[in-house]
Amino acid sequence: MATVTSSSPHSLFLRNPHNRHPLRNNLANLKFSFPTKKRFISVTCTAATAPTQDLPPTQIESQQGDRVFNFAAGPATLPEKVLLKAQSELYDWRGSGMSVMEMSHRGKEFKSIIEKAESDLRTLLNIPQEYSVLFLQGGATTQFAAIPLNLCKPDDPVDYVVTGSWGDKAFKEAQKFCKPKVIWSGKAEKYTKIPAFDDLEQNPDATYLHICANETIHGVEFKDYPTPKNATGILVADMSSNFCSKPVDVTKFGLIYAGAQKNVGPSGVTIVIVRKDLIGNARESTPVMLDYKIHDDNNSLYNTPPCYCIYMCGLVFEYLLELGGLSEVEKMNKKKAELLYNAIDESNGFYRCPVEKSVRSLMNVPVYFGEI
Ligand SMILES: Cc1ncc(COP(=O)(O)O)c(C=O)c1O
Repeated sequence: MATVTSSSPHSLFLRNPHNRHPLRNNLANLKFSFPTKKRFISVTCTAATAPTQDLPPTQIESQQGDRVFNFAAGPATLPEKVLLKAQSELYDWRGSGMSVMEMSHRGKEFKSIIEKAESDLRTLLNIPQEYSVLFLQGGATTQFAAIPLNLCKPDDPVDYVVTGSWGDKAFKEAQKFCKPKVIWSGKAEKYTKIPAFDDLEQNPDATYLHICANETIHGVEFKDYPTPKNATGILVADMSSNFCSKPVDVTKFGLIYAGAQKNVGPSGVTIVIVRKDLIGNARESTPVMLDYKIHDDNNSLYNTPPCYCIYMCGLVFEYLLELGGLSEVEKMNKKKAELLYNAIDESNGFYRCPVEKSVRSLMNVPVYFGEI
């Protein structure tokens, strides 16, 4: 059994047991969080981590026995191999005589780091050249405002599908900048479903259709994506909690955004993948820090970027490629999620997951004890 080392109302920290439990290596990559209700636990499987037995043979010496697992739904477990590599390069990055934290963001060393990170992400997600990759700050929450500011005018209608609390927050922020409409909400059914796409009454005049690809708190995940029926054909997705957890056809989207901290790095960097023809239309009042064109023209170096976070994401991207890419990562995530869902389903109602089976998240597993 893992031992509890400390906890708060929202999180639980477990000490890695030294004795080898058969599930240990898999459970190492799960996170439990305790949102507001007493009987409700959400479990998050991080995408970037893998069972130890699946690690490449180049594994740097493991220190796993001393690790504590953070089961909260914020910043998540990073692969041990990545942490150890960062540790080995912390003081002197590859003979440069500097830590990544001490480098000029305009120097050749950091330029090589950010370019490699972008190139590896492009390989992982097969991102076509018609799309820009931006490394930004402000979290996914900032994108809730940046997206309408860049993609539409104040009176433009836009469609939001609200499948959980994050979709709702995105919709509420958009209300300040355009005329969003909730065309489907799962609220009445406690956010346990994803709509049938044919049931969506999309506005043909909408500038874009917004979805949250994986609802972190409610544990519902889109397994496929709706085709936008608006004039522009733009689908926008918040992938903050399932980014790089599986292959995604980027060409189905006008814009994908994700805070890094759940799946691909530390908090502090937000990744935006945006079709190039959608850049350059920000309204005049848009702050420079929210204008995609400014960041695109400057290769994410308009101002001082979150250098160390970008470096860490780069190490994770390298690691995911070494694992065999996102198809392999998806297989691991399926295995991990299956373990949990099976335990819940076979508990004779002791544990309950309210989410409709076909749309259960591979990343976040809400668990109730007793009656829902
Ligand atoms: C799906 C989703 N969207 C948006 C956010 C907000 O992200 P940030 O805290 O990076 O602003 C979160 C954070 O948990 C999230 O899970």
